[in-house]
Amino acid sequence: MVAINLIDYPRWPSLARESILNVPADIRNVRVNIDGRVIDYSGEVDSVVITGMGGSGVVGDIASDLCWFWDCKVPIIVSKNMRLPRRLSKPLVIAISYSGNTAETIMSANEALSRGYPIIGVTTGGKLSTVLSNKGVPVVLVPKASAPRYGLPSLLYPTLIILERFGIASVANELESGISGMERALKAIDEAERLAGELLNAIPIIWVSESRRGVGIRFKNDLNENAKYFAIVSIIPEGAHNDIAAVTTKQVGLRHIAIMGPNDYEGRYLETLLDVVSSFVAKPLVVKLEGSTPLESEMYGVTFLGITTLVLAHLLNVEPISTLPIDRLKEELDKRKLFPV
Ligand code: PA5
Repeated sequence: MVAINLIDYPRWPSLARESILNVPADIRNVRVNIDGRVIDYSGEVDSVVITGMGGSGVVGDIASDLCWFWDCKVPIIVSKNMRLPRRLSKPLVIAISYSGNTAETIMSANEALSRGYPIIGVTTGGKLSTVLSNKGVPVVLVPKASAPRYGLPSLLYPTLIILERFGIASVANELESGISGMERALKAIDEAERLAGELLNAIPIIWVSESRRGVGIRFKNDLNENAKYFAIVSIIPEGAHNDIAAVTTKQVGLRHIAIMGPNDYEGRYLETLLDVVSSFVAKPLVVKLEGSTPLESEMYGVTFLGITTLVLAHLLNVEPISTLPIDRLKEELDKRKLFPV
């Protein structure tokens, strides 16, 4: 096969390392005064809301996955909406938008400010950076990539450092292992080529457990955005109570693929589900997440599966970077002034 253009993937290890340098060391000492109301970043928090969309929002899913393995001190709430969840008590809000111009994320950030919550922006710039910096709110400016999803480590790694600084999770010892996971996946191109070949001319049904939801969602999103390929992700155990009934009929063109991590709590459950699926239709493909730490296997998974979608795009002769319908929607939302941002 001709060499695949890996876009920004070869830079992922360095993006991860560079981006964490931009998290302010004194972030817990910040005090923001909004119209006489002081938001104090040194206080205790009882939840973390990670708000963002698409390639930025998946950072929340990944952090939430990791908290199934790590001893995270408070729940992580993943929010992919223009509003924040109601009835939060003492949250820390992390607003992530690669471009800084995503209306939903800017609106959520504004809502956090008006509710008096400590908030931190993670972005390359844009309106989010301007809105927050103008109010003295900390913004972590991260390095650019060819499109939001290719900058994943620049958005994820600072978020992990923020969790560490707020005493939510102890991440420092694992960061390098996450980078090893990326590096290992960058060497598994032959395997990615094999997997992409198996997915050709089929609708992938991605089975993944709750504790690896982020890897499954990211794979589906990368199939959608890089290869412009339709796919379904079914999260178990819930998907074993509904999706399974529909996707085990002998419909042509479905390809089952399961993502399994080492030590996943739901591992035996997923194996059982795959045996049942195999008794109805062709045996599912299995992608094993390799790694000695939760972050390593998670990063191996998102990197390896992302590269697989670039190979698929190549096989389909599809241009991977641009996502015109997403751009058009953003323009229309802007034109129709649906969101006051
Ligand atoms: O990866 C992509 O290009 C998209 O999924 C974007 O991440 C999404 O549209 C949100 O944009 P942004 O990440 O700039 O907030």
